[in-house]
Amino acid sequence: MCGIIGIVGDRPVSDRLVEALRRLEYRGYDSAGIATGGAGVIDRRRAEGKLDNLIDVLDGAPLPGTIGIGHTRWATHGAPTKNNAHPHATDRVAVVHNGIIENFQVLREELIAKGHVFQSETDSEVIAHLVTDGLDQGQTPQQAAAATFARLHGAFALGILFSDEDDLLIGARRGSPLVVGYGDGEMYLGSDAMAVGPLSNRICYLAEGDWVELRSAGAIIHDETDAIVEREIRSSSVAAEAIDKGNYPHFMLKEIYEQPTVIGDTLNTYFNALSGKAHMPPMPFDMANVPKITIVACGTAAYAGSVAKYWFEQIARVSVETDVASEFRYREAAMPEGGLAIFVSQSGETADTLAALRYARSQGQHIVSIVNVPDSSIARESDVVLPTHAGPEIGVASTKAFTCQLTVLACLVLTMARARNAIDDAREAILCAALAHVPELARDVLQHDDRILSIAGDMVDARDVLYIGRGSLFPIAMEGALKLKEISYIHAEGYAAGEMKHGPIALVDDGVPIIVLAPSGPLFEKTVSNMHEVIARQGQVFLLSDEAGLKAAGDVPHSIALPDVDAFIAPILYALPVQLLAYHLAVLKGTDIDQPRNLAKSVTVE
Ligand code: F6R
Repeated sequence: MCGIIGIVGDRPVSDRLVEALRRLEYRGYDSAGIATGGAGVIDRRRAEGKLDNLIDVLDGAPLPGTIGIGHTRWATHGAPTKNNAHPHATDRVAVVHNGIIENFQVLREELIAKGHVFQSETDSEVIAHLVTDGLDQGQTPQQAAAATFARLHGAFALGILFSDEDDLLIGARRGSPLVVGYGDGEMYLGSDAMAVGPLSNRICYLAEGDWVELRSAGAIIHDETDAIVEREIRSSSVAAEAIDKGNYPHFMLKEIYEQPTVIGDTLNTYFNALSGKAHMPPMPFDMANVPKITIVACGTAAYAGSVAKYWFEQIARVSVETDVASEFRYREAAMPEGGLAIFVSQSGETADTLAALRYARSQGQHIVSIVNVPDSSIARESDVVLPTHAGPEIGVASTKAFTCQLTVLACLVLTMARARNAIDDAREAILCAALAHVPELARDVLQHDDRILSIAGDMVDARDVLYIGRGSLFPIAMEGALKLKEISYIHAEGYAAGEMKHGPIALVDDGVPIIVLAPSGPLFEKTVSNMHEVIARQGQVFLLSDEAGLKAAGDVPHSIALPDVDAFIAPILYALPVQLLAYHLAVLKGTDIDQPRNLAKSVTVE
């Protein structure tokens, strides 16, 4: 899940490589580097950590050259040091790589036996040495590259630069995406449309197994058998405008506050305000007769799927299975022919989710994806794409994409419930009216920010935090815990409230804050009983409920009164305070909120 960029032309490339890396930093920020070639030498600049460190290096030692490659890294093999930063190079070849070379140890030993000297601990460096080995044997760059691809096991998107070629870059993809951008007298290679978008609005997605010879005048694409092929060139709609934080200190806070607007934008697509009903685009299957739904995703997106499981089963009366993609893709799930498989992903590039989608397709499922990047790999391989309209999400911790995913899923549930005659008109009207009010209710919830900040102050020294909820609030408890872990580095877990007494209650003492998510509704009393079991054991409870709930819950020292809403929409609204709580705790802890340690925004390795 690194980002790669390449440019071949007749103008200096260094600045534009760095600008493209800025757009790719969401794929990883452990290190960054660029290399130029073509004048008989490979020249590189690399730096550990964020891109700004590379910029400092380049300020002191600029890099000339009209052909070059760049990389932003999320470390897989080898620590995030300068030595392990890409591009990896010999004196003849430099390589940037996204993916994992699974047989790198065998190849490395073979090359060391031949006299190659390795400088890094990475799997990627073998690629530079293999290509160099081919060149040393008298092969052309194309022959050496093709022979190298044939020896690699695993996933890769590659950009290869040669010391002696001032008008040739070679790119290749297997398992990881790679885009070719067509310019005027200049050509580009990038991990995604965003990398090359501002440079070129004509792009081509390489197909699985393709490799490409890129010259300033154009591209020759080969398939996995090395035959020359044509691939569609399409226009790219990726906006070139700079995305900034406005007056907010962090992207995450800005994105939390954008939720009323972007949920509204998403509803505008899937909800007809005049008829007061949810609707979906035409589906190539009969919603009334779907035998089973499988929802697969990772992380926060998987929690959106878990909320939807409650909704689909209760409201549309259809059986749903949910799983995280990393498990689903290997467990050979039995799926009924003609079932519906839904894939949820902000980036649309998550490797495990994409692999799960391909498995579901092989099992005769109809494929629907809910993505925030409409031109992404997952979108391109789906039968139906239901875009969220969250806008670019820059903060690594997902916030607005999550509530927009829930909004799309809620509309899909209501549409399917109607198609299946599982809901009567009166109930449908109540749920639709509730959903239509989510944007303004979300605005009300955000008014509690100061109170949440003060609660964060009470929790700042906690080593562990527990979140509990029942029904569709259980996934929100897990989401709250995930948000807290990833940006504040405080250990947190989300539990089904009724499970506490089966183990986790042993953790409770006066130093463990417990966030209780308990809107009024059918499960309220049960959740409050679980809360009192915790209070009886000196647990520090923070109750999130509505006025009626707080009154019924009795004396709870810390609480927030959220709007009184139908249980259907409660998970969407209760997501906001847990996001804000994680945010404020992270600010108090002084962590790097938009780019937390060890993480990346898009996870393109399995
Ligand atoms: C958590 C977070 C991750 C992502 C997960 C899936 O805040 O952002 O857990 O939700 O990596 O990513 P997408 O949605 O891009 O498939």
